[in-house]
Amino acid sequence: MGVTTAGTTRAALAADLAEARARTFAVLDPVPPGDQARQVSPLMSPLCWDLGHVAHFEELWLLRTVTGTAPTLPRLDDVYDAFRHPRRERPDLDLLGPFEARDFAGDVRTRVLDVLATVDLARGGPLLEDGFVYGMIVQHEHQHAETMLATIQLMDDFEHPLARAAVPSTELTRELRGSGERSDGRRPGIPAAERARPEGEAFVDGGPFVMGPDDEPWAYDNERPAHKVDVAPFWIDTTPVTNGAYAEFIAAGGYDDPRWWTDAGWAWRTEAALACPEFWRPAGGGRANAWERRRYGRWEPLPDAEPVQHVCWYEADAYARWRGKRLPTEAEWEKAASWDATTGSKRRHPWGGEPATPELANLAFAGATTFAPDPAGSHPAGASPWGCHQMVGDVWEWTASDFDAYPGFRAFPYPEYSEVFFGSEYKVLRGGAWSAHPSVAARATFRNWDYPIRRQIFAGFRCARDS
Ligand code: AVJ
Ligand code: FE
Repeated sequence: MGVTTAGTTRAALAADLAEARARTFAVLDPVPPGDQARQVSPLMSPLCWDLGHVAHFEELWLLRTVTGTAPTLPRLDDVYDAFRHPRRERPDLDLLGPFEARDFAGDVRTRVLDVLATVDLARGGPLLEDGFVYGMIVQHEHQHAETMLATIQLMDDFEHPLARAAVPSTELTRELRGSGERSDGRRPGIPAAERARPEGEAFVDGGPFVMGPDDEPWAYDNERPAHKVDVAPFWIDTTPVTNGAYAEFIAAGGYDDPRWWTDAGWAWRTEAALACPEFWRPAGGGRANAWERRRYGRWEPLPDAEPVQHVCWYEADAYARWRGKRLPTEAEWEKAASWDATTGSKRRHPWGGEPATPELANLAFAGATTFAPDPAGSHPAGASPWGCHQMVGDVWEWTASDFDAYPGFRAFPYPEYSEVFFGSEYKVLRGGAWSAHPSVAARATFRNWDYPIRRQIFAGFRCARDS
């Protein structure tokens, strides 16, 4: 990855763009063209819309904005405008088909690399400084690769070949690095046994911390500005809630007891007939509380130790209340993930400053994407200063917070990335999933958001409680 705080090189940016494109096609190519062109679910775009939109967005920013050139096809400004056309309308648009979109993306990329070869990153103002606009395009393509992964997971019986070959990232680490072992002793004061214990709780001291990025050239506008937030002391789970723990909630009748649900949550649970996470079904053989889950077209026994995913905010919130807990606020989450109280400083990542690796976090690494969360406690070396595991990677984590602007927010470079979504309709998710690329999700300040009813995203949660 070329995410550097200074001296971003053209070669590193070209490599990042190439990595994003390789990932797009690794995800998309195995899907038959007919399935790329159809709408799998009204919640999602046709896959070829995502590809055309990625290419259109790249032309808009890296050619039209950077060099002032005219659009290839002016009509695409309407077709790929996510605000003019909600996802359910997109199949009816005059889209580029799977092959046309691929040609368009290739043509745009060729011209982008020509421009990049000569562009002066130091003298283009904030848009070009540290390669920001290139970083935005790299992240955007990776975000859409994750969206495509959600779309493909919604296909009932399409077995994605990469998912079939999935290997837990701890094994990938051993393969890539020779050994999973590491003893850096960077977490003074937290006994090793405590750190590695799955489903424990960590105590986080009260007091101010800095929320938002320190020196993070590619952070989005909604992560800024960094500001002090005072947080009361709290407890937070050391790992995300696992499938096994979540199944206990179901077995205890949690879905049928309105005490655990907010009014809106109960109304939605009733309307949508929620009874378990999406992609779960009772296992055959009549064993009580035994489940299977569908992962990219294949039914598997539910792995109890894996973080639960495909739950909506209402389910996460109800589970937490049933456990006598609550969801963490966004500020609590970020403090637990990144604040080093011994030095009074913020870490870029939960584990520190070094770049993410498959050992530290289960993210969508090039050639080493797991296609599933890793069991709770799988990444002890990636724990935060407070001993919280898997804050980054594995599953997105629902927080209690609405998606709001930080004090002093300024939209940059366009209001439609974040500003138009601020408000109480959306809940914030933190921490990235196995499906999120490190350029997007490795930093502890990245903010994701979605409606509280959504479950097709790779979302789980962890619980917190007052001290
Ligand atoms: C940050 C995941 C909510 O998909 O709506 C993609 C990312 N923004 N293109 C979304 C995004 C513009 C965004 N999320
Ligand atoms: Fe987009």
